Amino acid sequence: MAGEKISRVGIIGAGQMGAGIAEVCARANADVLVYESTRELAAAGRSRILRSLDRGVSSGKLTEREREQASWRLRFTSDLGDFADRQLVVEAIIEDEEVKTQIFRELDKVVTDPNAVLASNTSSIPIMKLGMATENASRVIGMHFFNPVPVLPLVELVTTLMTSTEVSERAEAFAHDVLGKQVVRSSDRSGFVVNALLVPYLLSAVRMVESGFATVEDIDKAMVLGCAHPMGPLKLTDLVGLDTVKAIADSMYEEFKEPLYSPPPLLLRMVEAGRLGKKSGRGFYQYG
Ligand code: CAA
Ligand code: NAD
Repeated sequence: MAGEKISRVGIIGAGQMGAGIAEVCARANADVLVYESTRELAAAGRSRILRSLDRGVSSGKLTEREREQASWRLRFTSDLGDFADRQLVVEAIIEDEEVKTQIFRELDKVVTDPNAVLASNTSSIPIMKLGMATENASRVIGMHFFNPVPVLPLVELVTTLMTSTEVSERAEAFAHDVLGKQVVRSSDRSGFVVNALLVPYLLSAVRMVESGFATVEDIDKAMVLGCAHPMGPLKLTDLVGLDTVKAIADSMYEEFKEPLYSPPPLLLRMVEAGRLGKKSGRGFYQYG
């Protein structure tokens, strides 16, 4: 396998996913540098990770010492230039093609190792679009983690027509051998495997609420008790974030033009109203 074993990781964004990915990397002994655009966002990201590590200690999954060590391995920056020596970078900022493309353009100039893995945690944007923003698309790959990252054991690995075998092997080895995640491979099409199946289901649940066919609570109860899902589709939409579900639906609709993927008006109105789900305190349910 080409390249040294990955120990220096960069994470772009410390929202729910970036924080979760940074946490699992730090817990797996990597040196982790996290980018956020402002000090305030970096401080919020750090507290999010520390809260999750505390939760690990109180549930007996981590010792106090392991929590301390993981927190020492985490550093924050607002300068992408600090990512020059990273062997793996995972981008986890908002699901917006233009914003992600700009980050990949900059990262490509900064990261020096020709075999470094430049990964996106995008839920739906075809990875080739990000690869083509760089001079060396062979380094670009999708590494799609699942929410909450410390709990869910899957990474979808998305290689493009341009991703090199060395880079995909390096990414897989890191996800599997270092983080202990199970890996499935997907071709590069919007939604990959999981969201191609999950998102139409979430959108159908929103359409059910919209039509008055059943209540939010009953739809969720039906899927939890009738199908043994850990949470119902509307609670899950709240967990993922309504803005993110809308953005995923938009990308999938753009790719396939299937009415199934088109975001229903109720979802659009809730996003416009700032009811983004758990992260904003209100979505289909109220939090906090
Ligand atoms: N960080 C760390 N640990 C967490 C956690 C978090 N954010 N949330 C929950 N946990 C841990 C808890 O510590 C607990 O561990 P123990 O059993 O060892 O104590 C365990 O997970 C269960 O948590 P809770 O008892 O608090 O709550 P729960 O049983 O209701 O589970 C859940 C919460 C893990 C979120 C569970 O409901 C679940 O798995 N839901 C489905 C989530 C899902 O489908 N995610 C995929 C979304 S799609 C996606 O991610 C892709 C995309 O692109 C949009
Ligand atoms: P989030 O809203 O929790 O965090 C968004 C992050 O993007 C924050 O770090 C924020 O500071 C940053 N950001 C926002 N606007 C920005 C801009 N203009 N420029 C640079 N950074 C900006 O979102 P999230 O749930 O962590 O999702 C992040 C990525 O992970 C998305 O691509 C999403 O599709 C993907 N993803 C989400 C989930 C999920 O369940 N939420 C699961 C898997 C993958």
